[in-house]
Amino acid sequence: MNWFSNFAMQGLTFLSTLMLFAIGVGIIIAIVFYVIDVSQTADAIRRNYPVIGRFRSLFSELGEFFRQYFFAMDREEMPFNRAERDWISKSSSGSDNTIAFGSTRSLTPVGTPIFVNCPYPMLDEDAEETPSVLIGEYSKHPYKAQSLINISAMSFGAISKPAILALSRGAKLAGCWYNTGEGGLSEYHLDGGCDIVFQIGTAKYGVRKDDGSLDDDKLREIAAHDQVKMFEIKMSQGAKPGKGGILPGAKVTEEIAKTRGIPVWQDSISPNRHIEVDNNNQLLDFIGHVRDVTGKPTGFKCVLGAYSWLERLCEEIIRRGIESAPDFITVDSGDGGTGAAPMPLMDNVGLPIRESLPMVIDILKAHGLRDRIKVIASGKLVTPAEVAWAYCAGTDFVASARGFMFSLGCIQALKCNKNTCPTGITTHDPKLQRGLDPEEKSVRVKNFISKIRYGSNLIAHSCGAKHPRALMRYHVRIVQANGKSVSMDELYPDKGPRDLPV
Ligand SMILES: Cc1cc2nc3c(=O)[nH]c(=O)nc-3n(C[C@H](O)[C@H](O)[C@H](O)COP(=O)(O)O)c2cc1C
Repeated sequence: MNWFSNFAMQGLTFLSTLMLFAIGVGIIIAIVFYVIDVSQTADAIRRNYPVIGRFRSLFSELGEFFRQYFFAMDREEMPFNRAERDWISKSSSGSDNTIAFGSTRSLTPVGTPIFVNCPYPMLDEDAEETPSVLIGEYSKHPYKAQSLINISAMSFGAISKPAILALSRGAKLAGCWYNTGEGGLSEYHLDGGCDIVFQIGTAKYGVRKDDGSLDDDKLREIAAHDQVKMFEIKMSQGAKPGKGGILPGAKVTEEIAKTRGIPVWQDSISPNRHIEVDNNNQLLDFIGHVRDVTGKPTGFKCVLGAYSWLERLCEEIIRRGIESAPDFITVDSGDGGTGAAPMPLMDNVGLPIRESLPMVIDILKAHGLRDRIKVIASGKLVTPAEVAWAYCAGTDFVASARGFMFSLGCIQALKCNKNTCPTGITTHDPKLQRGLDPEEKSVRVKNFISKIRYGSNLIAHSCGAKHPRALMRYHVRIVQANGKSVSMDELYPDKGPRDLPV
């Protein structure tokens, strides 16, 4: 017994000495910080409130993480709220995503879409499979695509190898296309065997000469892949209109540099626009050139701000002949996502898709080009209701980037511009990539797509439409500032029935 009390006494003495030592070290550190804080001039809070002023930045940094768990309401957060993220997460895991008791969504905010159910909804046996749409009938290899939702551009560099593998395999499982983004084509994009849209960014990564101009031989090599179905010329993107891609040096690994054709570990900044495209004529020339070289449908992506140029473009297409038209236009939303962008552009430049999509459709219709030029819409269209809204507005396809990031497990940590994404999606740190298993996540990608299709069909059938591509503007009403909703075809008068695809 004696040995035990001796041992206990020694233990207690050691612990109390350790505690005194820790307190002593703490006091010394506090004194050092105090002296540093009162003598520095850069930070007024730390100078006026030495030591404790340091906790402010710590807490505001931690708040970014904790708000989403403890404080923010279900429908409150930006860019995506918890209700949306949870819906995608549950859909992706394939578990039951019905909700109980009642909606947490308020129907009063201006802009809320309310679909008009018909008294005699579509019976399942009368409903139809969503028809395919043919893109690029004047190109050598037109592309027939069916999927209501597709994977929007995200470059290799902005996202990681396992993320690309998961998206490529998931796209194949679900039968949708996958846009490479502006970082070039890698073996990982091709891995799953899905249809691919190759994006030509302003730096022409993957198809560039050393001087940054287009290399036709490299373009031909890309087009030779049967999987590559279309070419998208990126004019602008919603998150940073008027600014090229930004990939921080920390993310330019050897493999990414090789795929892009640029130096390793150096910031990769693309020009603000294609150097050879400074007006509508040059744009049509460039589209025609890419289509001639590749033989595949070619279109462009932009976020709409000014729009009279689009009317002038349509006039020029009519003058040249409709074969000269872009085969598609991808309309991105001003509140679209990105790996990295300056805040002034991200916050306040470029029209949101709610306004630009009906506008683009109407401009094309007014010039008789609606059938010739297919429209792809992107920008927070990540739930069946948002997707159905886009089809009511008249789009041919929807594409999403962040919806698919959530399906891969994104927790909206807002770290895509660092190399520290905790879910392995936007980092090239192998330790963090370990968490992202491409095989398991590819099934989540497929499940998410299935649930979007299922939910969009539910809305269409409730409105009496046979499938989402048959939704019309009169199927949705938009809540106005006076609290009343107005039919979308009153807000944007429909110029005749939509030509249904074959
Ligand atoms: C991580 C990330 C990388 C992106 N990379 C590209 C790109 O390379 N090219 C491009 O045109 N758009 C890029 N985008 C924009 C998306 O393709 C899409 O247009 C935009 O995020 C709106 O869709 P969403 O709201 O569903 O994300 C990127 C977006 C994200 C989040």
